[in-house]
Amino acid sequence: MNQNIRVAIIGTGMISHRHMKVWSHIPEVAVAAAAEIDASALKAFGEQYHIDEKDLYTDFREMLKRDDIDAIDVCVHNNLHAPVSIAVMKAGFDCYCEKPMSASYFDSKLIYDCAKATGRKLAVQISSLFSAQTLIAKKLIEAGKLGDLYHARISEATWRRRPHVDRAAASCSGAFQDPPMAGHGAIIDTGVYHLGQMLFILGLPELDTVLGRLYQKVPIGAPDWVDGGRYALAHPMGVDEMGVGFANFKNGLSLEIFTANATNIDQPGHSYIEGTNGGLQYSMPDAFGGDWAMGMPPFGELPEFLQPTLTYTGLDEFGFAVTTDYRPYENQQDLKHYAPETMHWFDNQLHWYHYLTGVLTDETRYDTPLIGLNTSLLAEGIVLSSERRSAVTAEEIKALSHSTAMWRQETPWGIFDYEDSF
Ligand SMILES: NC(=O)c1ccc[n+]([C@@H]2O[C@H](COP(=O)([O-])OP(=O)(O)OC[C@H]3O[C@@H](n4cnc5c(N)ncnc54)[C@H](O)[C@@H]3O)[C@@H](O)[C@H]2O)c1
Repeated sequence: MNQNIRVAIIGTGMISHRHMKVWSHIPEVAVAAAAEIDASALKAFGEQYHIDEKDLYTDFREMLKRDDIDAIDVCVHNNLHAPVSIAVMKAGFDCYCEKPMSASYFDSKLIYDCAKATGRKLAVQISSLFSAQTLIAKKLIEAGKLGDLYHARISEATWRRRPHVDRAAASCSGAFQDPPMAGHGAIIDTGVYHLGQMLFILGLPELDTVLGRLYQKVPIGAPDWVDGGRYALAHPMGVDEMGVGFANFKNGLSLEIFTANATNIDQPGHSYIEGTNGGLQYSMPDAFGGDWAMGMPPFGELPEFLQPTLTYTGLDEFGFAVTTDYRPYENQQDLKHYAPETMHWFDNQLHWYHYLTGVLTDETRYDTPLIGLNTSLLAEGIVLSSERRSAVTAEEIKALSHSTAMWRQETPWGIFDYEDSF
């Protein structure tokens, strides 16, 4: 059952181009309009993707008045996710929101509640959920290969180690380092791919307490002499670059967290899940959206250090100790060739498309807003615990969390006052 969907994009910065690559693989989706406050970026986007000038908007609220668009792809930066996504859903559009769902639990909850209240179909971009690595890990746990789960660890140093170019290249506008726009650093940025994936694999256990700490010690970016200053930043110490934590869940599970956008540690180690019958170790969850988003040919082109790994250690059916190396990257390629009824599991935009057309329902789709909300709760626990220098309970996080969102935005086209829209 193929249905045509007309999508519009808000924010035509760096990530929108990856979205466009993926949309180009789904011929049933037409990107019919785009909105961007930077007029020259908007014009260039229109030219690159052959979007007519009349379908380009510097004020996205004008675009929301249209009745020939089905759904909106929100590609603005973190602290605009809540204001823009809420305006989108209130205007009657289904919504695909970039990660992190928001920079604070409070704002993520606003988005979550808005989707429920308006009945709009919301998805949050968490590409790591759609990788073969996640699928295999979940299947091994469901099959009882790990037994009872009791402890896990997330370990990620996205830009791997210094000396290196850290976070700077990832945004057209430098918004990743800008506190009013980004909210926080690694813990809600690359961290959400790892937190979201781990919580999903563990079955969304209910959070009990969190002890955490954020650090702003290592300047992010690179010296001026690297690549003509391309990666140098005006404010390299803007947001925290490292977050660590320890969480307890109500079912008895515990979780260690290490996430960094810049670190002097060479090998921060694998993520892992400990069970009474077996353990899983893994690295490099898919934070790129697969080779569709990266624009790479199907086989063997993702650099090896970016390819996901997954190792199971446990007992075989005879009781002998075994170690099995799964090959998530190769399996990821195979997922594309499965029957149409299963292929919507391997890419998040494709998954959303199938949700919009009704192939996937509220019961059968990955509930990315709920996973995003749980991820925000855990990340916010680390933020609040770091501020208070003490552990916080889930109830305290919910009570203490406040909005970091930009409800009033200065743009070249005047003030966008988002509070008006809800
Ligand atoms: N760049 C990456 O590698 C990457 C990867 C995954 C997810 N993301 C997420 O995508 C989001 C955007 O990141 P990015 O790298 O594309 O940032 P970016 O700064 O390159 O792009 C954001 C764009 O939004 C525009 N914008 C701001 N306010 C607007 C408004 N009111 N209406 C329309 N346009 C507006 C900005 O002018 C800018 O061009 C972030 O939340 C980020 O976490 C980025």
